[in-house]
Amino acid sequence: MITHFAGLQLNTVSKQAIKQFYQGQLQFPVVSESDHEISFQPTEHFTLSFTEVNEPLSPAHIAFEVPFSEFDCSVDALRNAGVCLLRWPDSREIDEFETGKNIYFRDSDGNLLEIIAHHYIKEGILPPRGVLKVMYLREIGLPVEDVVGFREWLKSTLQLQTIKETDTFNFVISGTAHAIVTSIHRRWVPIAMMALPPRMVVSFGVSDQRFIEHVRTLLEKQGIEHMLDDLECTEGALHFAFNGYHFRLVPTQFAQTLPAMLNLPLSRAKDAFSNN
Ligand SMILES: [Fe+2]
Repeated sequence: MITHFAGLQLNTVSKQAIKQFYQGQLQFPVVSESDHEISFQPTEHFTLSFTEVNEPLSPAHIAFEVPFSEFDCSVDALRNAGVCLLRWPDSREIDEFETGKNIYFRDSDGNLLEIIAHHYIKEGILPPRGVLKVMYLREIGLPVEDVVGFREWLKSTLQLQTIKETDTFNFVISGTAHAIVTSIHRRWVPIAMMALPPRMVVSFGVSDQRFIEHVRTLLEKQGIEHMLDDLECTEGALHFAFNGYHFRLVPTQFAQTLPAMLNLPLSRAKDAFSNN
């Protein structure tokens, strides 16, 4: 099964500005850097990478989960770092909803970032990292034209699941990873930002090689090109593209039991892949 988002690679028009923002203001540790690339490691299990390109960008949307008890501390850290918090039309910055609260801000390329906390997530399972207290990357936004088709493909091919479905906006979930399958005609809150599909590589962490083999068989049946690499550090990672997005499935050490221990609703009832 997919356990979490292991990585996200985005394009940038200024590696220097990205470094000032993520290292300087958010204090994410830099784990590698070359002339045109930089990678940050906000948590043990997630790497955020940027590749410098000479082309226009479409901003992405991502959300970091923090412990409910640390939410105010994360907000203070952003304010102390001089990060501009975005406002809703009624001028509030923090949104409180039935299961938690969140805030939004933007990076140096205009990517829409979110800090979110849910009161049902059990604390003390994944350590909150850095000044922002990040436990894991919860959301990556995937705007598409054909919302239903893409949602159903993620469910049938990658075994993601939904709790609630609409024709314009869906959380398609496995483990801690929430892929937001949203219409390109529906704008991102809270600033009514156009949902343009960003160029990105989404890496899903998976629990075992058998899952990768299973997906590979399905991709073959669907005639979707894919590649299995044999680099030492990512043995058996599967690369493929669908609907304009690049994906990788990477075997990792993220325990399959963690999502259930965190009390994520779908994980509590979810059978392991081996039982399917
Ligand atoms: Fe979000």
